[in-house]
Amino acid sequence: MNNMDIEAVVSKMTTEEKIRLVVGVGVLGAFGNPEPKVSGAAGETAEIERLGIPKTVLADGPAGLRIDPERKNDERKYHATAFPVETMLASTWNRDILKKVGKAMGKEVREYGVDILLAPAINIHRNPLGGRNFEYYSEDPYLTGEMAASFVEGVQSEGVGACIKHFVVNEQETNRMTIDTIVSERALREIYLKPFEIAIKKAKPWTVMSSYNKMNGSYTSQNRWLLKKVLRDEWGFEGFVMTDWFAGDNAAQQIMSENDLLMPGNTYQIFKNRRPEIEEIKEAYEKGEITDEMLNERVKTILRVLVNTPAFKGYKYSNSPDLEAHAKVSYEAGSEGVVLLKNDNTLPVNEATKIALFGTGQIETIRGGTGSGETHPQYTISFLDGLLEKGLNVDKELAEFYRNKIAEFRKTDYVITKGQWGEDIVPRLPQDIISQEEIEKIAERNDLGIYILTRISGEGVDRKLEKGDFYLTDDEFSLIKKLSETFRSKGKKFVMVLNIGSPIEIESWKAFCDAIILVWQPGQEAGRILADILIGKINPSGKLPTTFPKRYEDVPSRSFPGEPRENPAVVVYDEDIYVGYRYYDTFRIDPAYEFGFGLSYTKFEYKDLQIQQLGNKITVSFTVENAGKCSGKEVAQVYVRAPRGKIDKPYQELKGFEKTKELQPGESQRISIEIQIPDLASFDGNCWKVEPGRYEIRVGASSRDIRLTGYTEIM
Ligand code: BGC
Repeated sequence: MNNMDIEAVVSKMTTEEKIRLVVGVGVLGAFGNPEPKVSGAAGETAEIERLGIPKTVLADGPAGLRIDPERKNDERKYHATAFPVETMLASTWNRDILKKVGKAMGKEVREYGVDILLAPAINIHRNPLGGRNFEYYSEDPYLTGEMAASFVEGVQSEGVGACIKHFVVNEQETNRMTIDTIVSERALREIYLKPFEIAIKKAKPWTVMSSYNKMNGSYTSQNRWLLKKVLRDEWGFEGFVMTDWFAGDNAAQQIMSENDLLMPGNTYQIFKNRRPEIEEIKEAYEKGEITDEMLNERVKTILRVLVNTPAFKGYKYSNSPDLEAHAKVSYEAGSEGVVLLKNDNTLPVNEATKIALFGTGQIETIRGGTGSGETHPQYTISFLDGLLEKGLNVDKELAEFYRNKIAEFRKTDYVITKGQWGEDIVPRLPQDIISQEEIEKIAERNDLGIYILTRISGEGVDRKLEKGDFYLTDDEFSLIKKLSETFRSKGKKFVMVLNIGSPIEIESWKAFCDAIILVWQPGQEAGRILADILIGKINPSGKLPTTFPKRYEDVPSRSFPGEPRENPAVVVYDEDIYVGYRYYDTFRIDPAYEFGFGLSYTKFEYKDLQIQQLGNKITVSFTVENAGKCSGKEVAQVYVRAPRGKIDKPYQELKGFEKTKELQPGESQRISIEIQIPDLASFDGNCWKVEPGRYEIRVGASSRDIRLTGYTEIM
């Protein structure tokens, strides 16, 4: 079907059929709705057989295709690869890797009979307690937009669609379906809309998902200014917009606001206060509120995308994507996303180093978060198994103790049960379970102690400012202290590994460790990645895409998660544009680890900065040299500091970055980064403005490790 055909088909469609096409078919396999074409997919569009319009399949999500690995009366397994969570992908700062991951996911989407992947999620890390932060890239809109664009390009190069979500200002889970986010137009444009704008302009995603929340009083899925004026008129978006699942409260309003597709459809089956969307739309149509033209436009917009799907093209999918090849992509992405936070002459170690591995996370390794961002891979290599497989010298007796202890816990007081959506409810295991006497013996017979700390979160709930979440439990704290003291008293080192999805408090205990490795939630290859980092087969090259504050009290988004506190109805983004490092740098607050930070086993030197301005373009060139003893990659970052003008500006903003190739000791690479002058603008009142004056160009290894500075004058 081409564009001509679309006109012809739409002219043949009855109003009834048009309305059916703008509403999904409902939660699959329940309430008498159709059985899913692909089990575990999130939704389907309606089939209109008479006109040759097939159903199309939409499935999550950001860390890998989320479908059911098992099907009724079917021996076959339908596993998809678990990649690192988005925050870890962003820690690579590597556009090529994002593209590769997108491509691999795109192939799985296509080969499993899915048409549109409900990823990437590109909301902002406004607050470290955001329950879905792991599904989002960064606190910075530029980094987010760049990562998203590369990922979308990868996915769509495989002939399937991507969906950038959740549009927009959906930075929390608390009351996510009703919360009203109050935000200034400046913060909206510069921080929250920016990643969407970048991804749309660079990568043309097939679809956008509007969010659950309200924005300045109206649901985003019912906001014509957002979906028409900004998205289509200003940015030129040509794909279709779908609602988030069950979002909003007025189907007719959604159609009138140019939210093309209402998902998953039949919301009334779950939300008793709603009526069938189809009925609501029909009523509005009969009253003349929804015109033929409006309805036709929505249908055409949807069809223009759907004609490109594998389903429309009658693609014969194999159900057997190359999982082995994709496991390698997952490993590669993870290996570039690990962030080394601290290293006092401790790492790397060698294969012979005797390692005592502590913490239940060595076996119950967290590959990713829960909810729609969850994955069902063939396997997850635990940290313990990864170290063993790679031949590291792990204390077997201690490992055995953990294996037995965990098995016993899970059979007795800490049984894993199922929640209302069939999700696992996993009680936290005690950590301080080894006597001091035993620790002494273990420290005696090993060279290095490693404690693996885990955290998990997911859709529907925000994280908690409590022990066991943002803070350590007493139990974790006492174990860490004991391990640190005992190992150090014997002249041995103690390392912490953080298997987490979003920042935790580190400041109060970081002095206890000789090294800290942030492995995030690294997907199915977890253990292999950690093993190779420990022995230096991989030189860490990840950098933080989000600030780790010293104290929660330092976080600028104090209004999180809204008012009234017990049951928020409204959240005011009153920190405005001062999100993440924009706040910490401008208001001179020292974080525990700043945006852009990450250590390496080698050192890099920066030199020979050149700045050229030609027309609308500033070209920033410089050389990065590996001045250390082993090979490695560096993420070079360019921040711009605006002159003092009429508009308040943050201290500095990220405007460019590049990851070097693997540089051998002594090797250098010339890097050249282009900045468009309009991208230095601020949104002032009702338009973008670049104030004239002397702009400082700041090149460095992190937001607070600036190595080269220069100036350019903008007239
Ligand atoms: C989530 C979306 C997801 C959708 C379908 C919603 O609850 O917010 O991110 O794509 O479910 O699973």
